[in-house]
Amino acid sequence: MTKRVLTGIQSSGVPHIGNYLGAIRPALEHAKESEGFFFIANYHSLTTTRDRSQMLAQSLDVAATWLALGLDPERTVLWNQSDVPEVCELAWILGCLTSKGMLDKAHAFKDAVAKGKKDVTAGLYTYPVLMAADILAFGTNVVPVGKDQKQHVEMTRDIAQRFNNVFGETLVLPEPYIVENMAVIPGLDGQKMSKSYNNTVELFLPRKKLRKKLMGIKTDSTPVEDPKNPDVCNVFALYKLFSTAEEQADLGDRYRAGGLGYGHAKHELVQVMDRHLAEPRERYEELKANPEEILTVLRHGAERARKVARETLDEVRDRTGLLLSRDIS
Ligand code: ADP
Ligand code: TRP
Repeated sequence: MTKRVLTGIQSSGVPHIGNYLGAIRPALEHAKESEGFFFIANYHSLTTTRDRSQMLAQSLDVAATWLALGLDPERTVLWNQSDVPEVCELAWILGCLTSKGMLDKAHAFKDAVAKGKKDVTAGLYTYPVLMAADILAFGTNVVPVGKDQKQHVEMTRDIAQRFNNVFGETLVLPEPYIVENMAVIPGLDGQKMSKSYNNTVELFLPRKKLRKKLMGIKTDSTPVEDPKNPDVCNVFALYKLFSTAEEQADLGDRYRAGGLGYGHAKHELVQVMDRHLAEPRERYEELKANPEEILTVLRHGAERARKVARETLDEVRDRTGLLLSRDIS
């Protein structure tokens, strides 16, 4: 049977290189032989985005990103999470089977508490349950994500197992799909690239802005003439992601030989990234200038996604006895 592959990207900012290499690219690769179900996780973004126009604009940005990177809307389903409110219903049902102890251990919540954040909401606490509902509502087999989301997929499996044990075999157990050398893409400062660390390189920055961003990568103060170790350099770490094996060997040799300044290495990084991103960037700009095209795809996707989620919910309601009054005879 064809596998179903599903992932979501929050509309909490413009997608960055980490989102692309960690989740979007592996998802699109998978979708070539599987049924792709990809969505914009706007309900999840509400844990951080509290601005109406930002929420709307960023949802379109994420949709345009998927399309610009080659998602084929005839073959693959793309929708806005909130167009399929069934996931919220499923989240409630699953929440009633999820132990508080498990949610206490979820990274996002634990980190927020550890950092003493004031705004720790019920939404942030139950975030993994909604994510489980996203995955389980669509009978997902495979979930391409970066390493930080692995825990959520494991929780999803636990929750599904619990449901199946109590009510009988209903929900499909998903597997995370994490590409080993893309699991944690480093940001400008060498830490994991993340919107929350302010170290991102947005995917479709115009060339000049991309250049400016990359010039801001943190490097050490080794003088130009001295030999350098490429394996501990933030510039080289990003260069490796966008260059051929030969290019990497060549630049690596020049690092070790000395006489190569970091400014020059950054310049070469701009070249290889621009080569990779120039074409989809152009398509992205076209789509952004034509939101109606994006919305048409999202409307069609929502219809297809909703149909699948409804079928799951019908079965879940039936299994749990949560039938609509009209269905009880
Ligand atoms: P952010 O951490 O910037 O808020 P999201 O939480 O929206 O990004 O992540 C969307 C997807 O991109 C997830 O699958 C996540 O694992 C992946 N991802 C985000 N940052 C990285 C990274 N630095 N390396 C690899 N994958 C990442
Ligand atoms: N939690 C994911 C993130 O922050 C986004 C997400 C929501 C997701 N629902 C999902 C990812 C379902 C995969 C599957 O990146």
